[in-house]
Amino acid sequence: MRHFLEVDDLNLDELQQVLELSTKPDLPKVLDGQGVALIFEKPSGRTRNSMEMATVQLGGHPMYVKPEELGIDTRETAEDVVRTMAGYHSVLAARVFDHDRLERMAATNAMPIVNLLSDVAHPMQALADLLTIEQEIGLTRVGKVAYVGDANNVWRSLAIGCSMLGIETSVASPAGHGPNADDLERIVTHGSAVQVTDDPHEAVNEADVVYTDVWTSMGQESEKADRLDAFSRFTVDSALMTTANPSSIFMHCLPAHRGEEVTDEVIESAQSKVFPQAHNRMHSARGLLSWIIGETTNHGQ
Ligand code: CP
Ligand code: NVA
Repeated sequence: MRHFLEVDDLNLDELQQVLELSTKPDLPKVLDGQGVALIFEKPSGRTRNSMEMATVQLGGHPMYVKPEELGIDTRETAEDVVRTMAGYHSVLAARVFDHDRLERMAATNAMPIVNLLSDVAHPMQALADLLTIEQEIGLTRVGKVAYVGDANNVWRSLAIGCSMLGIETSVASPAGHGPNADDLERIVTHGSAVQVTDDPHEAVNEADVVYTDVWTSMGQESEKADRLDAFSRFTVDSALMTTANPSSIFMHCLPAHRGEEVTDEVIESAQSKVFPQAHNRMHSARGLLSWIIGETTNHGQ
């Protein structure tokens, strides 16, 4: 039984397989007659739509389940929810506030669990990010991937995926919002260097990819005023982009808070690949679902 809670739940060979599957529009209908349960504790545009359409493309039936109907850990335990859902669906994919809830769901081993974003990780986003870098630059040709802003869920999954593929990264964050020692150890363990700084220009210097995300993630709304203040030097603007390689691309998981972490000018520039990146969410979701169903079927679980 395989789960996908963080990018390094896959080994390098499996990550490359998933990325290869993601390039194929007409995969076998491995979900024919089967359900994929989609649970969202937080709002979503890209993730819900891309997962639903990827499921349909694989012949399956996506079912959006409101968390208040399930009452996870209020009406019944997360474990009992999963063991019940396993009788109706082939995959349970969930967006949660607390990553530990996903770990508990996966520990039942009743069905494959896929992380659709937690406080800790956003691995489905990272798959689309890597697919986009492959299409725009080439995963074997890309130099430094620079991340400017909060060392959050999106950063962590991207940095792990890059490190696994031999891609050097940098991260620039204000004090108190940078990576912790465990994050850095986990990233470098996969083989690639990570440059940590509080200077956006240093991080972006000669980068091939400049990536940012919101300063206030879902669930952190009460910290918004403090965060606006802390991150005020970390806007990706045209001046910062001139520090990167001239052929560099700009990426953002979206939704963007224009005027905060990125200017209109940058996100609307020719360097910006944010919409191909968003559209790749569907292709990489199809690749991941196809792989995880293949694993479940091949191993008779
Ligand atoms: N990037 C991303 O996960 O977007 P949504 O929150 O809209 O799903
Ligand atoms: N870091 C953001 C990503 C949204 C897709 C959040 O967690 O809200």
